[in-house]
Amino acid sequence: MKPPHFILLLIILQTLHHLPVILAVKYVAINDAKNYPGGKRFEKEIGIPYTLQIMKDINHYIWEIFQQKIESDRKQVGIATVFIRQYDGAEAITYGETVNVSALYLQGYQGNLKWEYTSLLHHELTHVFQWDGKGQAPVGLIEGMADYMILGYDFTARFLEYCEGLEPGFVAALSKKMRHNFSENFFVELLGKPVAQLWSEYKAKYGNIK
Ligand SMILES: *[C@@H]1O[C@H](CO)[C@@H](O)[C@H](O)[C@H]1NC(C)=O
Ligand SMILES: *[C@@H]1O[C@H](CO)[C@@H](O)[C@H](O)[C@H]1NC(C)=O
Ligand SMILES: [Zn+2]
Repeated sequence: MKPPHFILLLIILQTLHHLPVILAVKYVAINDAKNYPGGKRFEKEIGIPYTLQIMKDINHYIWEIFQQKIESDRKQVGIATVFIRQYDGAEAITYGETVNVSALYLQGYQGNLKWEYTSLLHHELTHVFQWDGKGQAPVGLIEGMADYMILGYDFTARFLEYCEGLEPGFVAALSKKMRHNFSENFFVELLGKPVAQLWSEYKAKYGNIK
């Protein structure tokens, strides 16, 4: 390569390096259970177009709640995928960027299936986009944050809501701290009290909670 080209290439690389990388998340939804009753119920009451639409909406909602307004604050996700799949077990399983929803669960659900499915995807997609302290955060807290997205009534989600009431922005701040690791001391740093004390005060305020 002649020197001028080499220099040009260097300039281009330099420029690319400094450009913010815009990596839009792609959304994929596949019904792998079309031949099973749950897969058929999915097609009738929910559908792939609806799934793709809410995946995007939920993704943006999660970033909003965690106050991750700019790209560099966010976990990099390439292709978020939802599979409707015939298997016996948990309603849904999230592994990395993939959420598998049980067709058997959809088949047997009594009530408004679309609503249930929407809530379920709020929870599962939170696992795709949330920080988990590189695996160091307790499972209960990770689950609580996922339920917090659906304003579920799980104990941890309610406790997080209580903490949010003490210090608006707490959930987002805690989530941000969980990018690289986890320590219970994060509660002291954000709310000035150890988590055990906060939990006792929460129980004292709201009574008979386990
Ligand atoms: C999820 O479903 C896909 C497609 O059926 C499958 O390839 C994958 O192994 C499943 N993942 C888990 C964690 O069960
Ligand atoms: C967690 O990571 C941050 C940022 O890398 C670092 O400053 C801090 O000391 C770490 N804390 C623990 C408890 O490992
Ligand atoms: Zn979960």
